[in-house]
Amino acid sequence: MIELNIQETLNFISNDEINSYSNKINEANDSLYNKTGKGNDFLGWLDLPSKTSGDLLKSINETADRLASISDIIVVIGIGGSYLGARAVIDALSGNFSQLQRSKERKSPLILYAGQNIGEDYHNDLLNVLNNYDYSLIVISKSGTTTEPAIAFRLLKKHIEEKYGKENVNKRIVTVTDKSKGALKRLSDSEGYSSFVIPDDVGGRFSVLTPVGLLPIASAGFNIGKLIDGAKEMEELCRLKKSINDTPANLYAAIRSILYNKGKVIEILASYTPNLNYLIEWWKQLYGESEGKNGKGIFPAGVSFTTDLHSIGQLIQDGMRNIFETVINVQQSNSTLTVPVDDKNLDDLNFLAGKRLSEINYKAQLGTSLAHVEGGVPNISITLPAVNENELGGLIYFFEKACAISGYLLDVNPFNQPGVEAYKKNMFKLMGKPGY
Ligand code: PA5
Repeated sequence: MIELNIQETLNFISNDEINSYSNKINEANDSLYNKTGKGNDFLGWLDLPSKTSGDLLKSINETADRLASISDIIVVIGIGGSYLGARAVIDALSGNFSQLQRSKERKSPLILYAGQNIGEDYHNDLLNVLNNYDYSLIVISKSGTTTEPAIAFRLLKKHIEEKYGKENVNKRIVTVTDKSKGALKRLSDSEGYSSFVIPDDVGGRFSVLTPVGLLPIASAGFNIGKLIDGAKEMEELCRLKKSINDTPANLYAAIRSILYNKGKVIEILASYTPNLNYLIEWWKQLYGESEGKNGKGIFPAGVSFTTDLHSIGQLIQDGMRNIFETVINVQQSNSTLTVPVDDKNLDDLNFLAGKRLSEINYKAQLGTSLAHVEGGVPNISITLPAVNENELGGLIYFFEKACAISGYLLDVNPFNQPGVEAYKKNMFKLMGKPGY
């Protein structure tokens, strides 16, 4: 299970300040569990792990196996909360170069994505790739009306029907959408696609542990039972009434709030493990869309270290002092690689010979945190014992729970996203959509 360490924030805040949050944190938790707070019709995620039935997991796994048996590639169509969670987990668990494996060497289909942008070249390139492989589609949209995935599905539907024949595509298309409303639901019913339901009371960015995330993750060959188990353990821990310091999600929310009120309005989530980059993207959406409203909210930024130490490291060390940093520290790599000895030592690197890269990476992390704290950037650390399904499930639930508490501490509704409509209205007007 993850561990939260706030030691490196204590130059900036005091234990008294943290303890003074006890009441606020208790009130926020009461509002959540009693369903009396803002957005209380979107709290289905709160007990989702413990309520996920074995039957649902079985049915998702069966569908994933069926798609996998006929596909080299599965294209997941979706955007925002209907895309980022699945990609975060699949990228975290896949090898870094899994795209380069030849299809026969892969145990599971390669997962590609569509409809997370409207890039013409992106989608054209994808269609060209799909000419040469057997593939299937998982189409995900809660509202069933989002423009980007709808355009992508229209393109891919035409392509897959031309490739396999309209009468043969039903076994290759699965939808994940609302149980009764939306254009995707209508289309899915009328074409007879098999379909999974996104619960009404789970919003997009909190939906990774529903079929929205579980079907793509299972299709990529990963163990969704273990993902749910990890989340369930964290759900149970979060539910216990303990002091702030003993409940990581509460502590994280309190520290963020205290730092925000001291002018630290940007949080940078950093990882030293490149395959967590999409987890950072998922986290950015979760926190950005949940907190950024009514003129309030911490700006969620992300960095991949040590890569970004050579790009925006300077600003973090020395720029405007309005940031704090949260570091995901992966304790154990899945493989072992040591720096080789070189007799000539022309690169002067023999002092590292025999050392594992993970050890050097960890020292880079310690050195960076120290430098950033000295430079005025408070540092929260989240230790993830390893990158596997169980730990990722726990981490996901931890971030969701802390995000909800953070929203309540800010006094915003963490479960709506009214601001997302503004660009859509303008775009529809510019494109001449009837009624705009
Ligand atoms: O968190 C959210 O609600 C959004 O990011 C949605 O997930 C995103 O806009 C996609 O919506 P939909 O699933 O309705 O296509």
